[in-house]
Amino acid sequence: MGQSVLTPSGFSRTESGELVCEGVSLEAIADAVGTPTYVYSTRAIRDQYDALDKVLAPVPHRLHYSMKANSNLAVLRLLQERGAGVDIVSGGELYRAQQAGFSADSLVFSGVGKSPLELAEALSAGILMFNVESLFELDQLNEVAGEMGLRAPVALRVNPEVKVDTPHHYTRTGERGNKFGIPFDEAVDAARRALALPNIALRGLDMHIGSQIFQLEPYRDGLVRLLDLYDQMQAIGATEIRCLDIGGGFAVSYDDEQPMDLDALAGALLPMVARSGLSLIVEPGRHIVGNAGVLLARVMHRKKAGAKEYIITDAGMNDLVRPSHYDAYHAIEAVHARDGRSIVDVVGPVCESGDFFALDRAVENVDAGDLIVVRTTGAYGYVMSFNYNSRPRVAEVLVDGSRFAVVTRRESYEDLVRLEPQHLEWRTT
Ligand SMILES: Cc1ncc(COP(=O)(O)O)c(C=O)c1O
Repeated sequence: MGQSVLTPSGFSRTESGELVCEGVSLEAIADAVGTPTYVYSTRAIRDQYDALDKVLAPVPHRLHYSMKANSNLAVLRLLQERGAGVDIVSGGELYRAQQAGFSADSLVFSGVGKSPLELAEALSAGILMFNVESLFELDQLNEVAGEMGLRAPVALRVNPEVKVDTPHHYTRTGERGNKFGIPFDEAVDAARRALALPNIALRGLDMHIGSQIFQLEPYRDGLVRLLDLYDQMQAIGATEIRCLDIGGGFAVSYDDEQPMDLDALAGALLPMVARSGLSLIVEPGRHIVGNAGVLLARVMHRKKAGAKEYIITDAGMNDLVRPSHYDAYHAIEAVHARDGRSIVDVVGPVCESGDFFALDRAVENVDAGDLIVVRTTGAYGYVMSFNYNSRPRVAEVLVDGSRFAVVTRRESYEDLVRLEPQHLEWRTT
């Protein structure tokens, strides 16, 4: 392998034109592990985490990685070793966080619908904070905590009702009328209620306005509104509030967009946080892992149909659903650079016309057997994959310098049926 220049994403081209991850050939990974496979760069994840941590250094802060973006245990352990906390949204994520070695007091629990069982599990674990999204949840948490003889630490997740612009409307959560958070004009009443409940300790205010956000204005406007609520809540006796959680959502570049300007964001927000005397929590997911991963796939064949030309890969929408679900753009590159480009659809083998990675895109002239990568798939890639068409879920590989490890093995056919009994145990009511 020739000399390579490492891009911020941890992927680069050697002099011979081969795409590598840190010091490891993607072709070698494909040979050893097969395709499709997600490949992640340790260095890229560390660099993103450290850069954000540094930008926030002027104020007391805590980075709670939003593990829904990529919840692989090896990725979690990597971040845990750097001092991260996590943001969880289910009992399953609580379990994973514990398996990865996160201490309970480094967990915040978000989500618009938490079951009584999940609340009880998180209470008995002793998590740092429940980000509560409704009055119903507040009452339910009070009841569950009371039954357990505990007091639940709570941040009220408020919908700041600001203007949010993201590439797809599915990823906006901080506008008026969204299902997430307590509506802004009900927040002070929610605080009053929290103060009156014996098993609730009101410790924070929280917002999460969406995902893949480039502009700092919605954060600034949202923070101004949260701090206004903080003043009003203090006036009604909420003296235990210590944290201000501004959520995640910081954009990465999928194409030639500029990612979120963290220095500008910090410049706009941190003075306000410092004046409040509160400590800051952020919950980034995509920003930490998005650019650190690719989906490595093999071209099965090319096919012409009418005026169209298709490149059919062994990865499908069940392995990476973002293009089909969010109409998301992902760059596609040949592992061994190829001359010339043609306008094609890059599609998978799944029996759906929505099974595509790119439509009418100028793609390098790859042929059957060639390896390609779908870039910027470290976030919301593997975690959103599924078994449609009885396709086994793919493998995940983590690269660290010149070595790599399989961090999720590829599912087998046996795995596909392992939860389905051969012999039925019929029951009657
Ligand atoms: C409550 C909460 N926090 C944080 C995140 C992470 O968002 P992102 O991956 O865009 O940073 C999400 C994801 O939508 C979320 O729902």
